This record gives sequence, structure tokens and C-alpha cells, in this order.
Amino acid sequence: MFKSLPFALLAFLLAFCNHEKKSTTAVVAANPNAHPDWTKFCASCHGPDAETFNRREWKYGTSRLDIGRAIRDGYPDSGMPAFGPALGEAKVLELADYIVKTREQQRDKGAVIDGPKPQTFKSEGKTYRLDTIAAGLDSPWGMAFLPTGDLIFTEKTGSIWRIDPAGKKTQINGAPKVMSGGQGGLLDIELHPSFAQNQIIYFTYSKLKEGEGATQSATAVLRARLEGNNLVDARDIFVAEPYVGTQHHFGSRMEFGRDGYLYVTVGERGRQDEFPQVLDKAHGKVHRITENGDIPADNPFYNKPGALRSIWSYGHRNPQGLAFDPASGILWEHEHGPRGGDELNRIQPGKNYGWPVVSYGTHYDGRAFTDKTTMDGIEPPVTYWVPSIAPCGMAFITGDRYPTWKGNLLAGSLRFRYLNRCVIKDNQVVKQENLLDDVGRVRCITMSNDGYIYFSVENPGFIFRIVPVK
Ligand code: HEC
Repeated sequence: MFKSLPFALLAFLLAFCNHEKKSTTAVVAANPNAHPDWTKFCASCHGPDAETFNRREWKYGTSRLDIGRAIRDGYPDSGMPAFGPALGEAKVLELADYIVKTREQQRDKGAVIDGPKPQTFKSEGKTYRLDTIAAGLDSPWGMAFLPTGDLIFTEKTGSIWRIDPAGKKTQINGAPKVMSGGQGGLLDIELHPSFAQNQIIYFTYSKLKEGEGATQSATAVLRARLEGNNLVDARDIFVAEPYVGTQHHFGSRMEFGRDGYLYVTVGERGRQDEFPQVLDKAHGKVHRITENGDIPADNPFYNKPGALRSIWSYGHRNPQGLAFDPASGILWEHEHGPRGGDELNRIQPGKNYGWPVVSYGTHYDGRAFTDKTTMDGIEPPVTYWVPSIAPCGMAFITGDRYPTWKGNLLAGSLRFRYLNRCVIKDNQVVKQENLLDDVGRVRCITMSNDGYIYFSVENPGFIFRIVPVK
């Protein structure tokens, strides 16, 4: 069976991934001179706002000298590079000051707590622990469980792996060539509803346009058969055209419905004024196709002249979470807002979800996007998040292992690095709880065949499992 994560590693990990929420402006103000370097050299591992230095189990001391030494010489064997040679002494000390001041500010707000974090956590009177299933991964983006209990997952940079229940990791051959850059790469995985019989499996990825030197890409769905550890008979059954040159907002979540059709999200690729509100472009939409990529004749715009027949709903920004409520069969989706205004939606055929006409968010520089938060003919979100949590990954909690969470919806947060648990009653969110504060940038959440919650985080990349203790 999977090994439980040794305490030291877990304590390090939790401490390493810690941060204080909603601290962005205060932290940036700590030392504006150092901040550009922070963003350039440190943020990818320690968080945009130095989150990993809150509530940290400090290993090498917290004085300016200790911190300066860590930055200058690094701890290369533990993954901390040496920055002295590249930055020079003055910048090293500036960054050390930056961390010291950030900690002072956080402490003033009561946020910095040094020392180990508990290796278990509580929710609704129950205690849970985290198991590590895989570490050292390269942005694990999509996950699915095979009938054998093997976990199959993608790494965004383009590889596919399976891990058997004993923890052995094997690469799958035949992954498609992906445009790996920005938010693009090899993304979600979905099994055919009859996978046990036909071994058909689906991948979303950012597909590079054909032709020499082409840089434009499109969200695509690849259908293939998994024969041993090889993908065979692979072909694209859906390409969200037109190809464009931006490298973000690919959407890319897939789910099979009870109706046997495949639902696929496509983001608006950063072209908000052109794509999400028109019906002849595939971007900013949820699509519904058959297992072969054909179009079901009862799709809402099937008979509308000029419309793409695959469209199921439109007016979306960047949907990276999609899940059917197993109890009601209702399709739920979440999507990133611009700056605030991330939405949780109930997806209904033919409906317009409003982007960019109606939004609770603002531009990244704070200007208002639109003064409209509701409008006739536009479906309001079930709930929305301000500030943005940057949601990614979604799953309903099924089975009997988590009785006090049963039927709840989990959404991951890339930005605040937790799992958001939504209690849903009569299709409304009646309660929310953040679980596993600062566990990492959550990418994907799924239930295993034996009823455990699995989720992946990136930078650094891990796959975890939540295990009830008592
Ligand atoms: C590639 C990832 C990565 C980057 C980039 C990175 N760090 Fe680190 N850093 C780490 C890791 C991992 C550790 C923990 C090392 C250990 O526990 O032994 C660490 C530890 C540290 C520590 C010591 C903390 C302690 O517990 O005593 C400081 C200070 C630090 N980093 C500052 C920085 C600064 C400043 C930058 C940017 C100039 C930076 N790091 C860039 C990965 C990184």
C-alpha cells in the first residue's frame, strides 16, 4: 500500500507551502525595490507574496544574516539554488531584508507562526491525514483511476504516467505532441464509460497548428486506446478552432455525463471581446460531443444557422473545473474571473454565462470591467469568489469514507493553495470551508475507486490522498 508521508517531510512541506491570505498589497509594500527580483527569481517556489515564509518551520535561522546566507549559498541538495553568483551581494541582502520585513508585517497582523504544523487536520469533528502518493512531479494536471486501481495522470509538460497501488510508477508511451508553454500542455484525462471493455481514454491538450514554425495552438481532445502501457489508434476528435497565438485560458476539463456524451470546457484564450459571446467560435464554451466526436442532434444550437453545433453553453472565461453531481445528475462548472469574480455555475444547455458582459470581477489593475453583475438572459453564478481563489479541479465527494462531507463539492485553489469544500443544498452553496491551508497550488481533484479523495498540486508537484483517521 501507499506509504504514509514521514512526519519530517510533511512538516516541511506544510510549512514550506504556508502563506497568509489576502496579504498581497501589504506584502508588496514591504520592500518595493526587492519585489521585481522576488517575482523573477523566488516566486515560482516560494509564492508570489512570499507565502512559504509564514508559519514556517525555519531550518537555517531567521536573522537577516541567516536568510542572506540561504539566498547567497543556497541549499542545493534540498532544492534551494544559490543566488549569490547571479545576483551579487547587494541584491541578496535586499531580498533578505524583504523577507525579514514581510515577516514583521505578517507578525503585526498575527500571521507568522514559526514551528511545525500538525500533520493531521480536523473538519466537522473528524480527523484526517495526508498521504503522499507521488512527489517530484512536473505539474500533474489531470488524473483518472483505471478499473485496476492504477492512477493515471498527465504532467503538463507532456508525459503520461500510471502508478499502481503499490506505488510503482510507469510511463505511458504515445502521448500527443503538445504546445507546452504558458498555461498550455498536456491537460485533462477522462476514461470512456465502458473503459473496462474497450480501453478507450481521452486527453485534452494544447495542439500546435500544423506547418513549419507555427506557434498558434488550440484546445483539442485526443481519443486513444490504452494497450498495456501504450496509447494506440490515437486521433483528435475535437479541436476548438480557430487556432490562436495566446498561451492561456485553454479550459480543458472533460466529463462524461449519464447521457453517455462527453462535455468539454474551452477557455476564451484571452480574446474576451471576440470569442465567448459568439456562437461560431469554439472558445469560452462548454461543448458536448459523442464518444467519437460526433455532435448529438439534441444539442441546443444544432439547428441554429452559423452556430457551432457542439456548443452546450457559452459566455465562459476559463473553466478548469467540471463535475456532475452524482445525486442529481446536474453539471457544475467553475471558472476564473479576471480579478475577483471567479464563478461556480450550474451548466444548463443553451445558456449564456455572461463573460465578459457581466462579471463580479475587475481588471487586473483594479479598474471596473463592467458595472453589471446581472442582466436579463444571462445566467448568474451559484456563488462567486472575491478575491479570486483561482479555482482548478473539481469533484463531488462520494462513497462512505467521509460521512460528514458526503455529497459536498471540492474545488481547488491555485492562488490560496487550499481545497474549498462547498456544502450544497437545493443547488445552492450553504456553507464553505477551506481545507489544508497552503498545501500547494491545487490542480486536480478526483475520487479513487476505493473511495478516497486524491488531489494534485504543482510547483512543486505532488499527488496526495486524504485519509480519515478517526
Ligand atoms: C527552485 C525552487 C526555489 C527557488 C527558485 C528559490 N527557493 Fe528558496 N528554498 C527552496 C527550498 C526547497 C528550500 C528549503 C531548503 C531546505 O529545507 O533545506 C528553500 C529555502 C529557502 C530559505 C531558507 C528557509 C529556512 O527554512 O531557513 C530562504 C531564506 C530562501 N529559500 C529564500 C529564497 C529566495 C530569496 C529566493 C529567490 C532569490 C529563493 N529562495 C528561490 C526552493 C527555492
